Amino acid sequence: MGTAIGYAYRLVVCLLVLASGLCCALAASPSKGSDSTSMDTLELYAAYAGAAYSVTSAWDCDDECAHPGTEGTIVEFYWDRPVITSNGYIARNPAKRIIIVAFRGTDSPSDWAQDFDGRLDSWPTSVQGSLVVDGFLVGYLVVANQVMRQVIYLADRYPDYTIVAVGHSLGGTRASMFVAGFSTEYPDYISRTQMYTYGQSKCGNDVFARYMDGLDARLYRVINKGDIAPHLPRNSDMFYHFGTEIWITYDNSTVVCQSNDYSMCSESVPQDQQNVADHSSYPGL
Ligand SMILES: *[C@@H]1O[C@H](CO)[C@@H](O)[C@H](O)[C@H]1NC(C)=O
Repeated sequence: MGTAIGYAYRLVVCLLVLASGLCCALAASPSKGSDSTSMDTLELYAAYAGAAYSVTSAWDCDDECAHPGTEGTIVEFYWDRPVITSNGYIARNPAKRIIIVAFRGTDSPSDWAQDFDGRLDSWPTSVQGSLVVDGFLVGYLVVANQVMRQVIYLADRYPDYTIVAVGHSLGGTRASMFVAGFSTEYPDYISRTQMYTYGQSKCGNDVFARYMDGLDARLYRVINKGDIAPHLPRNSDMFYHFGTEIWITYDNSTVVCQSNDYSMCSESVPQDQQNVADHSSYPGL
């Protein structure tokens, strides 16, 4: 099984390159998002997710740090673990009363391929039958204790702040691992927790997805147009998405998918029009 999935991923990475030139125009009926799903909100958290590629000890990076909604952000913690390639930061935005927990993704599809070696881990250990992709989990576990300790410290110090986990690509899967692990270790804080990921792949089995869907937290997965990553791994019925999908249409409006029905969202893009270019062009990222 592991080998078959690993093969599927390698195949997909080849397809990514081939498919990246394709694009299509598609009819969709966008719905008006509430505040938490508005384009403004999605772009704000995309900026925080994108900043994980460059922020270190201070709020100082490229366009992402210049996003007006991030003004006054204070970086509280930053990590860089080159061996397992785990990077990210924890920051606080006093004006918006949020604690950001941001996980870095991967820039290139070849790095990305290494994260999909097909091995699965039984995790979170307290959730019987839950399985997640090992390559997504290990980069979180290497910093899990430090990250959770920092988040709890800030959450206690600023009791009216919301905790928001963000990440793009691989970083989105690691943000998912954070939410899962945090919910089992610190369940009292989960109703203060939200998640916004951008172009994350499926990262667990049906038990994992159902566990996440049962949490008292708003978990949003944003998908840009024909981004191929959320459709991975292909050819496997072992993996499931969780949370609320928000699809960014070809005219940059948004559709909020209901009840795990993605037919008006990402699933409306035919397989041969899914591509890697849309993976790296999220508005605000
Ligand atoms: C949608 O947003 C992207 C990223 O901000 C931008 O490059 C693109 O031109 C926009 N497309 C339309 C149709 O407005």
